[in-house]
Amino acid sequence: MARANSTRSSDAPRDAIALLKQDHRAVEQLVGQFEDADESEQTELAERICSMLTVHAQIEEEILYPAAKEALSEDEEEADLVSEAEVEHASAKELIAKIEAMTSDDESFKATVKVLGEYVKHHVKEEENELFPALRKAELDLKELGSQLAERKYALMEQMGIEEEEPPAPARKRSGGSRAKSASRGSSRTGRQARAGSRSKSARGSSGRSARH
Ligand SMILES: [Fe+2]
Ligand SMILES: [Fe+2]
Repeated sequence: MARANSTRSSDAPRDAIALLKQDHRAVEQLVGQFEDADESEQTELAERICSMLTVHAQIEEEILYPAAKEALSEDEEEADLVSEAEVEHASAKELIAKIEAMTSDDESFKATVKVLGEYVKHHVKEEENELFPALRKAELDLKELGSQLAERKYALMEQMGIEEEEPPAPARKRSGGSRAKSASRGSSRTGRQARAGSRSKSARGSSGRSARH
């Protein structure tokens, strides 16, 4: 297979752990922005947090965790780390589904996103402090795994119409009015996805992956 074509041109080869840690940092940043954002920005930030986490969880479940289970099978405690991670993903996905069914007008919207953020923080800590170091020691081709993760990640993102690391505009407190933002606040997820879809199509265009930012 032409692996060079399967990841984007601007991606330096990264091993699996570097790639996943980068995802973790990106989500943490968005969660931080959510906390400081005003209401009009929170819907979009929450959507982005949810979609990034959905892709991240899926690539871990499809590629990382099965490889980890095999590599760590000799040590029961280490193998248990993977099972725990899977259970934590299931809970996170329930929260994501709740948030995706809400708008920022929902009473528990902010609280649910915050809880998701806390939950993810805890899960990420366990991955980075326990699972990843165990994988570093194990006999795993982390570079190859990184290529597989990247390939799947970008395929899923394309499928979902989302772009990578597109940091939302820095959260600024607006003293003024609601401007056009108030219109987007009520807009539904479908609206956003349509926007994201057309954005990603035009961004990538026919020239394909090299058009990424
Ligand atoms: Fe995870
Ligand atoms: Fe992770």
